[in-house]
Amino acid sequence: MKETYKNRNVAVETMLVHAGNVRHNVDPTALAIYPSTSFVADSPEELDQIMGGTMDGFSYSRHGNPTVEGLTHAMAQLEGAETVIATSSGMAAIDAALFAAGLHAGDTILLSRDLYGASLNLAGKIWSQYGVKSVVADLTDLDQLHAILLKEQPKVLLFEILSNPLLKVADAPKIVQMAHEVGCQVIVDSTFTTPLMVKPLSFGVDLVVHSATKYLGGHGDAMGGIVAGHAHYEEALHQYLRLRGGILGPFEAWLIHRGIQTLSVRFERQCQNAWNVAQRLEATHDFRHVYHPFLESHPTFSTAKKLLPAELGGAVVTIELKGARKEAYDFLRSLQVVRSATTIGDVYTLCLYPVVASHRNQTEQERLAMGITEGTMRIAIGLEHPDDIFADIMQATHFAYSS
Ligand SMILES: Cc1ncc(COP(=O)(O)O)c(C=O)c1O
Repeated sequence: MKETYKNRNVAVETMLVHAGNVRHNVDPTALAIYPSTSFVADSPEELDQIMGGTMDGFSYSRHGNPTVEGLTHAMAQLEGAETVIATSSGMAAIDAALFAAGLHAGDTILLSRDLYGASLNLAGKIWSQYGVKSVVADLTDLDQLHAILLKEQPKVLLFEILSNPLLKVADAPKIVQMAHEVGCQVIVDSTFTTPLMVKPLSFGVDLVVHSATKYLGGHGDAMGGIVAGHAHYEEALHQYLRLRGGILGPFEAWLIHRGIQTLSVRFERQCQNAWNVAQRLEATHDFRHVYHPFLESHPTFSTAKKLLPAELGGAVVTIELKGARKEAYDFLRSLQVVRSATTIGDVYTLCLYPVVASHRNQTEQERLAMGITEGTMRIAIGLEHPDDIFADIMQATHFAYSS
């Protein structure tokens, strides 16, 4: 059967694969989604230049995609970065940053003891296979950190400014200075702080990573990661994507880009809600501890006041129930507004039980050394009314204590 396609008579099979693939010269208000895996160049010479990196353009989506570039441009502006890549997850972003830092066999990575558990495991279980040693330090003890930096001469230091789940604030500018003095590159995982609370590149951090799955995307419907840094990391970061292939897909890039358009509105409200709820929880005296960086009872209160913007203390509140696993399970079972799930940054308030989730691979002794007990609950505050969040936490607490 013959059909007409572009004024030519072609077989129906030919028409079917080409028809409808129309190019429009339009300027849409929203970022466009390009699911295409490849892009047609205007000429072989142009393709040669695009592939050789001497001309801007797109050839194959593992090398670059216009929708993903919309997201990376936005993140470059937010972080004040010269180069940004988007990855398939936050873990891929951390891996890409470690790769870009040029780690080789015999090198050492220094990790914050309070780092996200999977990041500790990435260094200890994966990078160790390439002969890279990992050493852990408590970054709230700067004397200890200084001694370890001098002794180990690490190539990379990886830490989070706001620790999880106890929300300790690390004195990041001082730490960066100390690390640079021994020639150590610094990677900050800024997932919990977002570019609204801190811009690590502005005080000398070499690479910033995000799990974009969290506040950047913001709606719990897309996984992704971001690495942002100085221009001299550009080649290595792009090589990571081209050769290891952990790219972000265009649909996820579009969702995360849409998420960051409302980041300040969401995150500021979540921080306000968290501060409201934290103060009220502490005032009840119903908990062994309530952790929020701006509570005077928090061990790193003075660093938080010095480093963080006045209104943005983060959107997480951690409580320690007066009880152990039984009370913890009863608490989780009776939550009604707050949902029990292992993430942060969504519009809903989410509660995570570290002992069975984020810190299940640590021994009880290790957890206790960090200050995490069977009563510890991390609550990532959402966009519900703070009265409802507070009331739900209190009814679950009372149920747990009385059952
Ligand atoms: C601080 C932090 N960094 C990195 C990650 C990993 O991100 P992803 O789950 O997107 O791989 C997480 C995930 O919970 C996290 O909390």
